[in-house]
Amino acid sequence: MTLRGRTALVVGGAGGIGQAIARAFEAEGASVVIADRKSGGITIDVSREDSVASAVAAAEEQLGRIDVLVNSAGILTESPLVDMELGTWSRTLAVNLTGVFLCCRAVLPGMLERRSGRIINIASQLALKGGLGMAHYAAAKAGVIALTKSLALEVADRGILVNAIAPGPIETPMLAGITDDWRAAKQAELPLGRFGRPEEIAPTAVLLASDPGGNLYLGQTLGPNSGDVMP
Ligand SMILES: NC(=O)c1ccc[n+]([C@@H]2O[C@H](COP(=O)([O-])OP(=O)(O)OC[C@H]3O[C@@H](n4cnc5c(N)ncnc54)[C@H](O)[C@@H]3O)[C@@H](O)[C@H]2O)c1
Repeated sequence: MTLRGRTALVVGGAGGIGQAIARAFEAEGASVVIADRKSGGITIDVSREDSVASAVAAAEEQLGRIDVLVNSAGILTESPLVDMELGTWSRTLAVNLTGVFLCCRAVLPGMLERRSGRIINIASQLALKGGLGMAHYAAAKAGVIALTKSLALEVADRGILVNAIAPGPIETPMLAGITDDWRAAKQAELPLGRFGRPEEIAPTAVLLASDPGGNLYLGQTLGPNSGDVMP
């Protein structure tokens, strides 16, 4: 029970990876609140400032305080850049990058006051290697990694540790949006030869949230990715 007594807000916690993280946190003794665009917890649209503010306030009300924030909300579409609508680009950046900014900013005042906190941002290995038809998604996720490093520098001396996880392909509803061709090509290039499962990502989040295992991680991007990227 490495998270006994901790509180956590898992944004995007109704989805595959977020839900697995929320369950693993609970199994480790944490009190967890989920926020998602879908039902299953507090309703939030991470791309909207007012929605994020009220959802985080509701989570703080329910939990008393937020010790750990997990940013797992995200969307994925596929389009060659030359054909990409500006709206597709903008929506992806709004949810996958601006959403992380807004959620981090909303929980920070409480963490700064208590001089304690952990923030775990779910990026993607595509931030590191790019992805065919996924310039918007990869750019947003690369932004998440840069945000993570910058924020980690800003708040380390206030006892707040900020890190990212960059998973490889994971079997979740998100992958319903990709083509069979993309899936087959991706699977063939993975050294482990298979996609991961959400419960294979959750232990990395538990590590980052826990003492003493997570104490020395700062601005890092951990890569449970079936060996696809070896930075
Ligand atoms: N599945 C993969 O292969 C994979 C790989 C690397 C990274 N990721 C990242 O992991 C995170 C979780 O993805 P997943 O695979 O569990 O997908 P998922 O679709 O199962 O879960 C994503 C969740 O985000 C929520 N969401 C979407 N837009 C939102 C918004 N505007 N406001 C609030 N919530 C919103 C959805 O309702 C859903 O519950 C995402 O950030 C994704 O980019 C996924």
